[in-house]
Amino acid sequence: MVFRTQIVDRKAVPFLLNILAIILVLAGPALAGEKIQLSIDVSKAGAKIDRNIFGQFAEHLGHGIYEGIWVGPDSPIPNTRGIRSDVVAALKAIKVPNVRWPGGCFADEYHWRNGVGPADKRAVTLNPNWGGVIEPNSFGTHEFMDFLDQIGSEAYVSVNIGSGTPREAAEWLEYMTAAQPTTLAKERAVNGHPVPYKVTYLGLGNESWDCGGNMTPDYYLSQMKIYSRFVRNYNPAQQNGQQMLKVAVGPGGDGPRWTEWTEAIMKAYQQHTWSWDINGLSLHNYTVVKWPPLYKSVGFSDDEYVQILKSTLEMDGLLKKHSAIMDKYDPDKKVALVVDEWGAWYAPLPRSNPGFLVQQNSLRDAILAALNLNIFARHADRVRGANIAQMINVLQAMIMTDKEKMVLTPTYYVFKMYVPFQDATFVPVTFDAGTYIHGDISLPRVDAIAAKDVAGKLWLEVTNLDPHQLVEIVVNLAGSIAKAAAGQTITAPKVDSVNTFDAPTSVVPKPISAKVEGGRLSMTLQPHSVTVVSVE
Ligand code: AHR
Repeated sequence: MVFRTQIVDRKAVPFLLNILAIILVLAGPALAGEKIQLSIDVSKAGAKIDRNIFGQFAEHLGHGIYEGIWVGPDSPIPNTRGIRSDVVAALKAIKVPNVRWPGGCFADEYHWRNGVGPADKRAVTLNPNWGGVIEPNSFGTHEFMDFLDQIGSEAYVSVNIGSGTPREAAEWLEYMTAAQPTTLAKERAVNGHPVPYKVTYLGLGNESWDCGGNMTPDYYLSQMKIYSRFVRNYNPAQQNGQQMLKVAVGPGGDGPRWTEWTEAIMKAYQQHTWSWDINGLSLHNYTVVKWPPLYKSVGFSDDEYVQILKSTLEMDGLLKKHSAIMDKYDPDKKVALVVDEWGAWYAPLPRSNPGFLVQQNSLRDAILAALNLNIFARHADRVRGANIAQMINVLQAMIMTDKEKMVLTPTYYVFKMYVPFQDATFVPVTFDAGTYIHGDISLPRVDAIAAKDVAGKLWLEVTNLDPHQLVEIVVNLAGSIAKAAAGQTITAPKVDSVNTFDAPTSVVPKPISAKVEGGRLSMTLQPHSVTVVSVE
């Protein structure tokens, strides 16, 4: 004892402990274990990852539309015909395939006539679902279609089954899509658009089991069949090419109520006659650990990080369950499962209007988005559409605005990094990266997908869920003569790091170095990161 105390000077202990800590941090990955092996057999191809799984959702809710998209033609904020230019440029860059509009719960109280015609003559109504605020109806059908045109996207229009009529919805579709000189088509021309609009998706109601009218499956079916029959697409260009796809209201979560709902709709579909049809069944699933949402969107603990990710991964089980029911009645997978509301739903930010669903968007949300997009890609044979909620200023947004200011969120950057996966062909990746354990929750340490784009280039996405450890990966590329890889990674010092108006680039993708040698790709993944690389 005496001898030992003599060789270590007491004053040197803190210094030595510091050195030891530095060595442990640097050696962390090595101590944490071996390199993680992933295998991709490039010769094996799965289903096409439909670009529509990268769809967006823009509801008349809070500042989602007003201020987020629409500032009006007289605004000092740069705009084209009232639509803000900064937002358009940002959305163009992520190649938004479709935008679902006008809701949400709002859709079942929306009357389209309020939103057409001269701006100063439009009815001013209320938005009782979302804060009871004034709805000026300045953003209506023409403004929505103009916005789609500016960002290069397609329309997913939800019609009002809850408080509207089949006639109202049928007339709206005739107004939008008829080429012949009907009274409604002529009115559209007078209002500025002689050429018929294209409606790619038609939503037959929204959450008709709840805010859309609290209907039973049987009641909904009787209504939905009428809308499916009479709400017609007249756009001749579409009729000769891609049809308008009709999406029925589907389940809203896990449990018997929702499996019964899917059973009822799909059973009816199996017996459908020439007079009605559906091409999609919607599914809504938010990541909320407790309802009402109390978890904070920023300033959260490791406990909440793992709980949220655990909860988001339940999307996979949900899709499996509902796909299995759909397979029973539709083995040819003609009806797509369309996850047209998904994302994280946290407590409203302090001092925000609780009816506006304003939350921050952190690096955790980037990881959450990647995990969900990967789940959709793995279910690509059935999941052929999805719409994150919501595009701007609401819930898990791509973009946040404050008057003239705009900031792009970590989730936005994930959507940007995933652009090459749009319409790419799924290629299976196998790996066993072990688990990250925190308390009694375990998460997969790593998640990954691969796909070949339309030009045949291979893309790989790898998420490191571990908030503390680097991960070294080696990817065996069977059937590929790859020589180089390049890509980007998004991470930040903390899982709750965010971009703000004052510091908009705290969480942005950066180039990652990747080595390809002897048919093997090696990379080091930072803790809590999302990485996308292409291999050539
Ligand atoms: O996205 C917010 C709301 O969540 C939608 O309006 C509704 O469909 C869902 O309950």
